[in-house]
Amino acid sequence: MTKQTRYWPPEQTDAGVREAAAAIASGGVVAFPTETVYGLGGDARNEEAVERIFAAKGRPSDNPLIVHLADAEGAAALVAAVSPLERRLMETFWPGPLTLVLPVKPNAVSSRVTAGLDTVAVRVPDHELARRLIAASGCPIAAPSANRSGRPSPTRAQHVLEDLDGRIDGVLDGGPTGIGLESTVVRVLDGAIHVLRPGGITAEQLREAAGADAAIIAEPASEAAKAGQAGADPAADPAAESAAEEAPRSPGMKYTHYAPRGEMAIVSSDDPARLREAVQREADAERARGRRVAVLACAEHAAGYRADAVLSLGPRAEPGQAAQALYAALRECDERGIGFILAEGYPEEGIGAALMNRMRKAAGGRVIRA
Ligand code: TXA
Ligand code: MG
Repeated sequence: MTKQTRYWPPEQTDAGVREAAAAIASGGVVAFPTETVYGLGGDARNEEAVERIFAAKGRPSDNPLIVHLADAEGAAALVAAVSPLERRLMETFWPGPLTLVLPVKPNAVSSRVTAGLDTVAVRVPDHELARRLIAASGCPIAAPSANRSGRPSPTRAQHVLEDLDGRIDGVLDGGPTGIGLESTVVRVLDGAIHVLRPGGITAEQLREAAGADAAIIAEPASEAAKAGQAGADPAADPAAESAAEEAPRSPGMKYTHYAPRGEMAIVSSDDPARLREAVQREADAERARGRRVAVLACAEHAAGYRADAVLSLGPRAEPGQAAQALYAALRECDERGIGFILAEGYPEEGIGAALMNRMRKAAGGRVIRA
């Protein structure tokens, strides 16, 4: 599957959008920036285009794709029904990093997009290039994150090329993405908002939008509760995994994701001094085993660590900056041949919840409580 991958630089967005839209309209697959991460887009109605997306990524076919629309009106052609609560979420958060899982209209998109489910995930990205591209291509765009399956999602065009050069038709460079983690995926069931994947819209924001009208339910419910225990990733727990298979609410969450090549562990503590001490102790122990060790730390602590690489994720009080920086940092660890990554944990509030979800996935659930 070697093909010439076009690159459209940030200075050439007019030509880039025009040519990328033409490629998508004729069944091609093109990577583009959104406010969350880069997506790999193709015409959601075109079976062959959708198959090209799965092939380029090496993605398991039972993991459905999010359909991207230029505006909320575009949803009418794809979804069978929208409840008042779902409508309110669209009005509050679109364009923006919220994906809604809704009943799909028969034959509105390729069955490969929905992986045969009777629902479709839709969102309107808050990125000018993305919305111009969707409007110009004249079709709903199915787009998973533009990484090889299992790798960290791309937050820059360069990351897309690292993973997919020669496997896709092109990449539109819109610079680094703003949020840095994927959208929040929700499904409204019996009047409650189920968060299938935490992301750019926080639980607090959902709660404010829902008011007293709906409960917000985190899924898998066990994840945050188990966070303090080592080896507690639900995806690594056979019971949780088979439960997820019986009720595949967000099929993607059961796969290994966002993973660097090296091993990783999160060190978590409410006490900064204990946190620093534990991170350094673990780093020393891994280095004594002959591994190249990286520490991912807040700016305040970074200068104090001894390791083969120390990457700052920004001020401790700004988890949004850590969210923006995480995937690039994981990729940098790979480039620098790091065998073990120790990451400081963050409080699970606001965007910190999605940040810790992705860190736990990258770490295979390994959390050391200090
Ligand atoms: O921010 C994002 O959402 C990025 C950008 C490119 O928009 N896209 C993204 O797509 O993260 P992807 O394919 O990497 O993740 C899609 C997630 C998966 O966990 C998948 O299982 C879930 O959405 N999903 C898609 N369709 C679904 C459906 N019908 N029901 C339940 N979950 C669904
Ligand atoms: Mg992905």
